[in-house]
Amino acid sequence: MFDNRTKSNFRGERLANESDSVLHSWCVPSKWRAPTVISGRGARLELEDGRSILDMSSLAECSNLGHQHPAVIEAICRQAQQLCFVSAAWGAQPRAELAEALLEKAGFEGGRVFFTLAGADANENAVKFARQSSGKPRGRIVTRDRSYHGASYACMALSGDARTRVQADPETFGVLQVPPPYAYRCAFDSSDAFTCGERAVGAVAQTIDRHGASTVAAVMMEPNAGTNGIVAPDNYWPGLREATRARSVWLIADEVMSGFGRCGEWFAWQRYGDAGKPDLMTLAKGLTGAHLPLGAVLLSADVADRLQHQMLYTGLTYCGHPLACAAGLAALRAYEDEDLITRSRTLGAKMFAELQALQSRHPVIGDVRGGHGLFAVVELVTDRATREPLAPWPQTPPVLTALVDAAMASGVSLATRGNLLILAPPLVIDESDLADALHLLDQLLSRFFPT
Ligand SMILES: Cc1ncc(COP(=O)(O)O)c(C=O)c1O
Repeated sequence: MFDNRTKSNFRGERLANESDSVLHSWCVPSKWRAPTVISGRGARLELEDGRSILDMSSLAECSNLGHQHPAVIEAICRQAQQLCFVSAAWGAQPRAELAEALLEKAGFEGGRVFFTLAGADANENAVKFARQSSGKPRGRIVTRDRSYHGASYACMALSGDARTRVQADPETFGVLQVPPPYAYRCAFDSSDAFTCGERAVGAVAQTIDRHGASTVAAVMMEPNAGTNGIVAPDNYWPGLREATRARSVWLIADEVMSGFGRCGEWFAWQRYGDAGKPDLMTLAKGLTGAHLPLGAVLLSADVADRLQHQMLYTGLTYCGHPLACAAGLAALRAYEDEDLITRSRTLGAKMFAELQALQSRHPVIGDVRGGHGLFAVVELVTDRATREPLAPWPQTPPVLTALVDAAMASGVSLATRGNLLILAPPLVIDESDLADALHLLDQLLSRFFPT
């Protein structure tokens, strides 16, 4: 729907054309069709053709604070005037302050923070620390089928994604995969979410026991809402905590997407209080509200203490970049000052109730899940009774692509993953904008899936 061959903007000025020069991620280059954004404010993005678009996915579920948050931008500018860069081996004030603030928010007293550039390298480093600190240097890592942990080689192996398996085989990287706690399509033959959660925990425990706990370094999973559209039943994560602790296996929470209010808490595991506290946690995306790239691994005191006198063979040139840390610090203050974690919880519950109302009117909606914060998944089916998906995972059915294109033409950007619609707007979205977007979705469902 976008003419990427346009060479001028709405003012008639010549523009460089990405379709001639840039390789974009997760697409077939010859089919790249996407808008060019020139600016943004709050939940809205301004396109080069002059249109304003309501962003219902926080771009890649990362712009939690909305676009161009003034306090974050000011902090970046201030830090840039003072000191842009110091290597990760030396100290920098914003890095120290951000580490302290993160440990405090997580309740990781006596723990440590290792800063990275983004989510994938946070996950890779979490695996390194888990292996080194447990004294299991080649220890296996248990992850879930149909999970996403990043697109670097090790992260492709950690991810349960059939599309990238040919590039990085989980077995080669010592990764063991188990079925997810996907209650709507439970691999454990259960009809209720609690039993599915219980059996999914059992599968993790059995996998560790089968290989021997002494050979497994960690379990790495998203605690609650998953990037690939699965939302764990509430007994799942606390169950994993118990099962891993009983076996002396570290538990790593990948909070790259679910952190910073997305699931109605600072970190999604906090939904379960101390019964959900992981040993390590990875962060990125909302950490700076996507204003600058930054990731982090938080290590509990237990893990950090074991590494205290060991050599750490890790780090990238720009780990913990001062500009990014200053942005992170300002982002944390913005979440706090604007009470955005609570706002996400309140608005998320409203959005969820609206989506359930849509489900009652549109038979194409098989399941609606999430809603603990501003993150919800709408799963589309051809038949509610049989739960036949609209397209086999992970294909996106053409009719859904057409619906998303129509939404964009009406000024609302929606995200899909396979036969799922993922709703994850910035936590600052206006209530009236959110209501308008859901109203538009209602109309489009009637148009594209008439009953
Ligand atoms: C749960 C999860 N983990 C890790 C990543 C990878 O993060 P990044 O793209 O910043 O490397 C993502 C990105 O979408 C994610 O959603």
